[in-house]
Amino acid sequence: MKHEESGRLTRDGIRLYQREDFAGMRAAGALAAQILDEVADLVEVGQTTGALDDFIRNRVEQAGATSATIGYKGYQHASCISVNHVVCHGIPGDKKLKDGDILNIDVTVIVDGWFGDTSRMYVAGRLPRKAERLIDVTHESLMKGIAAVKPGNTFGDIGHAIQSYVEANRMSVVRDFCGHGLGRVFHAPPNVLHYGRPGTGPELEEGMFFTIEPMVNLGRAETKVLGDDWTAVTRDKSLSAQFEHSVGVTEDGVEIFTLSPANRFHPTWAEN
Ligand code: MF3
Ligand code: CO
Ligand code: CO
Repeated sequence: MKHEESGRLTRDGIRLYQREDFAGMRAAGALAAQILDEVADLVEVGQTTGALDDFIRNRVEQAGATSATIGYKGYQHASCISVNHVVCHGIPGDKKLKDGDILNIDVTVIVDGWFGDTSRMYVAGRLPRKAERLIDVTHESLMKGIAAVKPGNTFGDIGHAIQSYVEANRMSVVRDFCGHGLGRVFHAPPNVLHYGRPGTGPELEEGMFFTIEPMVNLGRAETKVLGDDWTAVTRDKSLSAQFEHSVGVTEDGVEIFTLSPANRFHPTWAEN
């Protein structure tokens, strides 16, 4: 279905959506977050990432929604599942999860033409101490980035909030992938960098919809893409983590469209 464009574009080509458009993003974000809540129950030692993806595909269908990733640039799955040193765009398959594996599951759904894009970390079995620290720092860096979202601040303020927190914890921010505008499209301007200097980049305005999705490595920031043309890994094989929210700029701050309905956004809280 083709949808009418809403609002207008800034000089930087960033769409400013209208007040009534927030409801569409809320519905799409809520479904994506709900599915990430539910899949937590299936993450366990011996499970395959392919089976997790099958569950997600079925849930999207059952909700009467559409997966944004199936058919996107030839991608054939309803999620990206990135285990251990995989940074992002891991392809679900028949490899079984082992005790202590950490994984990011990234889901994007389309509900009534609106895109909801979110990802979180999970663990199979026991969470190793170093992985827990990485996951905590990565999640906190996302929340610090979101806290910088309000009209008058800039995209550089978001990147700086993330980078300074990550580096203060002696971890590194991946530079090779970024967040993105979204709304009635999957990927739109601007590129939302997870590093930067305060006061630089486009100014945030009410009605901007975008993702923030920092990838953080225990080792160095450099990544490479494997021969399947999707799977991105850390060059030094160090562990990597990522969290992603879809957000909208409000009159005086930010609305997070993809919060976990059951507060299950952290691997150690997922058991509750
Ligand atoms: N959901 C990813 C993002 O955060 C994009 C995945 S594209 C895919 O932007 F084709 F790899 F699924
Ligand atoms: Co995204
Ligand atoms: Co995503």
